Amino acid sequence: MPKRSKYCGELRASDTGNAVVLEGWVRKSRNFGGCLFVDLRDREGVAQVVFKPEVAGEPLMKRAGELRPEWVVRIGGEVLSRGENVNANMPTGEVEVAAASLEVLSRSEVPPFPVEDEINATEVTRLTHRALDLRRPPVQRMLLERSRITRIIREYFADNGFVDVETPFLTRSTPEGARDYLVPSREDPKGRFYALPQSPQIFKQLLMVAGFDRYMQIVRCFRDEDLRADRQPEFTQVDVEMSFVEPEDVRAVIDGLFQLILKKIAGHEITLPVPCMTYEETISRYGVDNPDVRFGLELLDLTDAVRGGGFGIIDSAIEAGGEVCGLRLEGVTFSRKQVDALAEVVRTHGAKGLLWLRKEPGGWAGPAKKLAPEALEAAGEAAAAAEGDTILFVADSRMTARTSMGRLRVHLARQLGIIPENSWGLVWVTDFPLLEHSEEEDRWVSMHHPFTSPRPEDMDRLTSDPGSVRARSYDIVLNGQEVGGGSIRIHDREMQTRIFRALGIGDEEAEEKFGFLLRSLRYGAPPHGGIALGLDRLVGILLGAESLRDVIAFPKTTSASCLLSGAPSTVAADQLAELGLMIEGGVKE
Ligand code: AMO
Repeated sequence: MPKRSKYCGELRASDTGNAVVLEGWVRKSRNFGGCLFVDLRDREGVAQVVFKPEVAGEPLMKRAGELRPEWVVRIGGEVLSRGENVNANMPTGEVEVAAASLEVLSRSEVPPFPVEDEINATEVTRLTHRALDLRRPPVQRMLLERSRITRIIREYFADNGFVDVETPFLTRSTPEGARDYLVPSREDPKGRFYALPQSPQIFKQLLMVAGFDRYMQIVRCFRDEDLRADRQPEFTQVDVEMSFVEPEDVRAVIDGLFQLILKKIAGHEITLPVPCMTYEETISRYGVDNPDVRFGLELLDLTDAVRGGGFGIIDSAIEAGGEVCGLRLEGVTFSRKQVDALAEVVRTHGAKGLLWLRKEPGGWAGPAKKLAPEALEAAGEAAAAAEGDTILFVADSRMTARTSMGRLRVHLARQLGIIPENSWGLVWVTDFPLLEHSEEEDRWVSMHHPFTSPRPEDMDRLTSDPGSVRARSYDIVLNGQEVGGGSIRIHDREMQTRIFRALGIGDEEAEEKFGFLLRSLRYGAPPHGGIALGLDRLVGILLGAESLRDVIAFPKTTSASCLLSGAPSTVAADQLAELGLMIEGGVKE
């Protein structure tokens, strides 16, 4: 029989009268009035095939009767109009193929779950049988769309003069703040390891020193960190670096990319430039550095209003230098149970509790009504509260109050359904602090990575007030998720050494860890900067996926294992011996 002439999903009324050959999987078959109807599925969709005794003949009818779900077949026949029996729910629903030939290419056992849009199999079963899961149309569609998105990205960068260069996976540790995945080396001397890259950061900087001017790569990164719904141990970055640029040059390139993708994938037009907000402003207004700007509900600073209001917890938080941070919910009344649940949200983000006030006809309700009348009055005014409004608030250190209320803001927006559907909130957050204090290690660490350039005007505070030095950095946030981050880099060796010292990295350690970058800075490094976008996150948001796992063909679970292949797995004793490795306490199954 000849090979496929058309995808099942492509058949249309205009094909009527043509002879076609289809190849695909049997979705289901049913007998009806002496005819056998088979739904045949391929990548592009489903077509109806009908075996009629007068066309197919007796032997073919018998063989067709044996077809079972997920058998792979090749079917030839004529495209007929379905006339009165059009199925408006299927793109191919105006036609059917009257089968004249059938070849069974492969049989299937009964699959562990039906290959349908909606199934009730657990994620463990789905991931264990991922090839079957990926055959399900909605899952397959996600990856087909992902492929479209990566194509748009590649073409955009190629059109804008970017060179695609590959960088090594077997390399040295790169500093992005997570633990490394290590790969032992068989070479002597033993005890040496490669580290899989957490990002190509150092290599892309070296490519700028080399004079490539504009680099991009769609590249896998590896990070051994605590996993969440928006994190995978191996994930993909759209990695970019440019020479002779300022932050706004990098942002302009990425703005153009987002404009193109949102238009092509979501049919949504944005005007450029994408708005920028400093980190300081973002924390004040939204409490978090990944603000969801699709809705208002901004945080309120009630500190001055309730200062000295005679309410113990509030007074002591303010006296200790803290803040009172609130949210006003227009016309919303919460039950006691609901307030308890909201208090739990702020507690998981470090706050000790949640206070509330509701403006009622004769005054105020809620535990904070014990505040002095002037304080109540001032709080109501600061929040612009009208009758029926509720004010929720936390009194704590500034960051705890802001962060916990920022998280509560998003939680409430979801709960109250105030996030507009099909809306896109894109914003740049700029000027992050260069350093943050690690309580665990009791030292200053980089907020991004140690190659990030400080703002020159802040450099005189590097030793006296390290926390106040701002970086020339920027994150891009889409619908409340950080989808990319980057910075202008340090291209001066002296400056790099000063920053290493501020981070408590001595000259020797710097040389040992990053010597290959530092050496190259001696030989004519151009000013440069760049960014990396998290491709999985970006695709997930654009396609409305619930988890990153939905947009990755072969994802890992939250315990970083691959249910399909069984990785990570034990290895043979002789492989360990060859590497000179011993497992302390023996191998545990
Ligand atoms: P950063 O560490 O911010 O920057 O990473 C860039 C983007 O990658 C995504 N991302 C992740 N996605 C899925 N799973 C993960 N575990 C994960 N970790 C990060 C995020 C993030 O915004 N070298 C710098 C970039 C630069 O300075 O140019 C870097 O890697 O969307």
